[in-house]
Amino acid sequence: MGAPVSVAPAEFGSALRTLRSSQGLSLGDLAHLVNYSKSYLSRVETGKKQPTADLARHCDDALGGEGRLIRIAMSVPRRRTQAATTTPSVRQLPRSITDFVGRVDLLRQLDGTCPEASDGQYRGSPLVLVDGPAGIGKTETVLHWGHVAAERFRDGTLFADLNGFRQGGSPLTAEQVLRRFLYDLGETRADLKGMDAQQLGVPFRSLLTGKRMLIVLDNATRPEQVRSLLPASPGCMTVVTSRSRMPGLLARDGALRLQVPPMAPEESLELLATLDPESRLAQRPEYLDACGHIPLLIRIASRRNMNPEFYDSLYRRESAAMLRLFSMVGDDSTSLRSLLMGSYEVLTGEATWAFRLLGTCAEGWFTVRDAARLLDTGQSAAEELLSELADIHLLQYRDGQFAFDPVHRAFAIERAGAVESERNGCQV
Ligand SMILES: Nc1ncnc2c1ncn2[C@@H]1O[C@H](COP(=O)(O)OP(=O)(O)O)[C@@H](O)[C@H]1O
Ligand SMILES: [Mg+2]
Repeated sequence: MGAPVSVAPAEFGSALRTLRSSQGLSLGDLAHLVNYSKSYLSRVETGKKQPTADLARHCDDALGGEGRLIRIAMSVPRRRTQAATTTPSVRQLPRSITDFVGRVDLLRQLDGTCPEASDGQYRGSPLVLVDGPAGIGKTETVLHWGHVAAERFRDGTLFADLNGFRQGGSPLTAEQVLRRFLYDLGETRADLKGMDAQQLGVPFRSLLTGKRMLIVLDNATRPEQVRSLLPASPGCMTVVTSRSRMPGLLARDGALRLQVPPMAPEESLELLATLDPESRLAQRPEYLDACGHIPLLIRIASRRNMNPEFYDSLYRRESAAMLRLFSMVGDDSTSLRSLLMGSYEVLTGEATWAFRLLGTCAEGWFTVRDAARLLDTGQSAAEELLSELADIHLLQYRDGQFAFDPVHRAFAIERAGAVESERNGCQV
């Protein structure tokens, strides 16, 4: 009969059942055809018994599987323990950097949200929203924490980049992500095919019942993109990252919000010292202020061979030079302009206009009333436009006032110039 093959029994069993049913055969019929007992086949189909290569071959021949069953039987590494055979171990967190600095408060808050079970009982499935502007360190902070906290999630980690706010990109739908997660968790039921996101959420939640898993949904755009992906099982935890403040996820789904602020000046200096202890950027606080204390920009600036004019333009915050400085040729996903375009593209036409105008004219911290005057609109219209900009962190908000950080202002000025040139018939 041969030795059991390297396969997750549930996956093989499910494929066998699907193929048998598609041929209109009962278990008894198949037992007769392949000369194995009906009870043995039943145990294989329900994932209780590991199939052998011989069985896979016989069933393939008998059911016209054209090698499918034998391919499944040979493709998946064997799980050794009982727990692992019922829960394929998934550890999907991408690599995190080795020179991570600071963010102690955020790491502590993430730790504090982790489900604890002092009496063996977990209560609720925490949901955390980590939000902030592009390059501020949302993903990196969650990854850094997730790798350290991984051992608290014994059943594994699921990770998906939902592809939100990417220039020219299209965000993944909840349905696409659920299909991938279900597949990664070993669910191969054929009847999933016709299901929508809401329906797919049911087997997903069932699979996670009783499990201790961390689910990281990176770069989300809207609450609908994540709602069907939320586990219900106490002991699981979901962390969503987004440039959006997602008020709906906080209000309706009770997410805990952790906003990632710019680095504190001493954190920026620590990062710089880690990257390049000789860096000229450390010589004047204005240089790091011009980077908005955004770690991505500090890293880019520290890696550039800057000539004295660049330092000068950074000091004077010249928009064109700043955008040039913070770009990496051939690597759009690391370039400031491309990152900010990803946010700019999702704005309504009116908000792009307000962004350009305010970025060019508004100074320091300003109020709704100031904005209404500059935009020449009523206060409620100005308030709506400001919320739209602040909700995706194109504008800073604090205590009823708004402000541009240097890089967002540089980008707004550049966009205003681009629109102007377009109007004048120039190529942008
Ligand atoms: N705390 C940190 N220490 C060192 N580098 C950091 C830190 N946070 C972010 N970075 C760097 O900045 C880059 C951008 O961070 P990321 O988390 O991708 O930003 P976001 O997800 O907010 O757009 C990272 O690739 C990493 O190189
Ligand atoms: Mg990110």
